[in-house]
Amino acid sequence: MTARCVRSVSGSLQLLLRNRWPKVYGAATCSQKHTYTSIPPPAQYGGRHTVTLIPGDGIGPELANHVRELFRFCCVPVDFEVVNVDSTMASEDDINNAIMAIRRNGVALKGNLETNHNLPPSYKSRNNLLRTTLDLYANVMHCQSLPGVRTRHRNIDIMIIRENTEGEYSSLEHENVPGVVECLKIITRTKSLRIADYAFRTAREKGRTRVTAVHKANIMKLGDGLFLECCKEVASGYPEITFDSMIVDNTTMQLVSRPQQFDVMVMPNLYGNVVSNVCAGLVGGPGLVPGANYGEDYAVFETGTRNTGKSIANTNTANPTAMLLASCLLLDHLKLHAYANMIRRAILSTVTETRLHTADLGGQGSTSEVVQSIMKAVESTGPRTLSL
Ligand code: NAI
Repeated sequence: MTARCVRSVSGSLQLLLRNRWPKVYGAATCSQKHTYTSIPPPAQYGGRHTVTLIPGDGIGPELANHVRELFRFCCVPVDFEVVNVDSTMASEDDINNAIMAIRRNGVALKGNLETNHNLPPSYKSRNNLLRTTLDLYANVMHCQSLPGVRTRHRNIDIMIIRENTEGEYSSLEHENVPGVVECLKIITRTKSLRIADYAFRTAREKGRTRVTAVHKANIMKLGDGLFLECCKEVASGYPEITFDSMIVDNTTMQLVSRPQQFDVMVMPNLYGNVVSNVCAGLVGGPGLVPGANYGEDYAVFETGTRNTGKSIANTNTANPTAMLLASCLLLDHLKLHAYANMIRRAILSTVTETRLHTADLGGQGSTSEVVQSIMKAVESTGPRTLSL
């Protein structure tokens, strides 16, 4: 199903356009396909939205600043409520504050929070706490080849739908007998049906033709077997979409040898993490691909591979693309499609036409140079991309 929307350019954007391109004016039209489950919060105070911003660790804070800079430049009607989370704190107060802020605002943009694996097992991943508490059950990542980025494979266009709230991330580990660790992987029928339905709905809305369920049901016959059964059950309600399944080990081999064969992929939590990272690597790396987490009530946007990039923090070398594209997904969620399209096109033209690349893509550009180039592209293409 394709939803077509015709929107008027909001007040602040009109102001921007009048100031920058005085001879050009009119209404913006956009054709947009909606896939998100949660309903965006209504705009408040004269059409402005308040969004929670969690800068996170590593490169998160500098990328968050670039998003704010770009939004200001484009007069995006979004106000950020910044919530800092100290990921080294033993208490969970910080993350609970962040969760409360997201409950209030309905939507967030987030840098990743470090989960130090040397901390005791009682220390839970703040990222995981946030996703499970807010029941952000669907992680969505779209990995697409970009013309300006040199990679081994071309023409990749894969949508990864990952169950985000159970599976191996249930974190119930025990060492009752010394040297013997038991951990639970929880798979439920309710959540498997829910994510399978999300994947098929997304496939239908996006006009895609195939959904592949990724599993290890040959070994985990009960858990992954249940996940697979649920996917099959949901598939029967979408006769126009081809359904197939693949064992996770074969999937990773197929991905690195012939990734073009995949369309929409659906999978439990941990396989989703591994497959998303493989796919991001295939199209150019963690600096390029945005990610979204949707639930019934809330939505949180972040980089697709959720790295902190600690080793390159404050060096002005991180690729800002993934975070900036995540901010465009956020704008789409708020139904600010004209702004999202304008910024997205400017980002993509910088990656593909200007080819001003950061070091991860083999270039010599700095983070701030890339952001400056995106701003220039906004100035030169703004009215055209808004279909004025
Ligand atoms: P990392 O942060 O070291 O990143 C992996 C590589 O990608 C590094 O070489 C980094 O420099 C590069 N990179 C990442 N973003 C980049 C960008 N925007 N531009 C250019 N290069 C970029 O990844 P690692 O070691 O896997 O994770 C670091 C931390 O993040 C850990 O604390 C981990 O727990 C947490 N993490 C959490 C995840 C979650 O979903 N909860 C998922 C992945 C990591």
